[in-house]
Amino acid sequence: MKVLLAKRAGFCFGVKRATQMAFEAAGIDKTTYTLGPIIHSPQVVNKLEEMGVKVLKNLDTMDRGTIIIRSHGVASHEIEEAVQKQLEIVDATCPFVKKAQEHVKRLSETGYGVVVVGDADHPEVQGIVSYGGDKVFVVGSGEEVSKLPKMNKIGVVAQTTQSFENLKNVVSECLLRGGEIRVFNTICDATAIRQEEAKELAYQVDCMLVVGGFNSANTRRLSEVCVEIQPRTHHIETAAEIDPGWFSGVERVGVTAGASTPKWIIDEVVSRIEELNKSN
Ligand code: F3S
Repeated sequence: MKVLLAKRAGFCFGVKRATQMAFEAAGIDKTTYTLGPIIHSPQVVNKLEEMGVKVLKNLDTMDRGTIIIRSHGVASHEIEEAVQKQLEIVDATCPFVKKAQEHVKRLSETGYGVVVVGDADHPEVQGIVSYGGDKVFVVGSGEEVSKLPKMNKIGVVAQTTQSFENLKNVVSECLLRGGEIRVFNTICDATAIRQEEAKELAYQVDCMLVVGGFNSANTRRLSEVCVEIQPRTHHIETAAEIDPGWFSGVERVGVTAGASTPKWIIDEVVSRIEELNKSN
């Protein structure tokens, strides 16, 4: 059985950076926390906990120490609270997410109604929205634009993981409504690239493993994309979940991983498959 690993499986730039910053901060003092999980990988979160870095839901109970801001950002009032409490802030917000937050802030300040293309329930989007004024609206698709109040000046930004197609649809709808439109393409291509590679791989193999947190939306999406092409696709978090029965009659197995999956977990998965291969 041959194992084919997707070229860009695992950490994207922003997640790699955030994880590095968190591990570096972990040694600083005994009162280091992350505001929400640093990335969507329970294994990384557990490792940090073992090093004394706990996850906080909010800053209510924190009055000193270091707070690490997760890769997909937090709400502006949470940063303000941390500043007010004079906490040490390690801002691991991905620079691409930060760009979207800054555009919303500037657009709002200069009188634009802002349309954020994305999933209103996602913490990244909630964070982005918080940087604007009272005229910031989240839409999931072009159809939802018709429900928005009338605006003459419209600014558009997107959640970093949105598809270009969806952003384009929303912009077309906005063009039918506003007099002046400013569009900032804040989509990060890390997600799209991983999906394209995963698709290509799924066509070449008899079984596909997608590795990553069950709470990671981009890993779940990768798995959905693969299952459409290769029904023998399994989403796993760790090597321990591999069922040897999955490989019966399989000649080529593909492995890919979400943007928040650490390399050590991918390596363990590949080693486990190779181990099973030898014992057969
Ligand atoms: Fe940043 Fe893109 Fe990753 S926005 S966190 S580099 S998916």
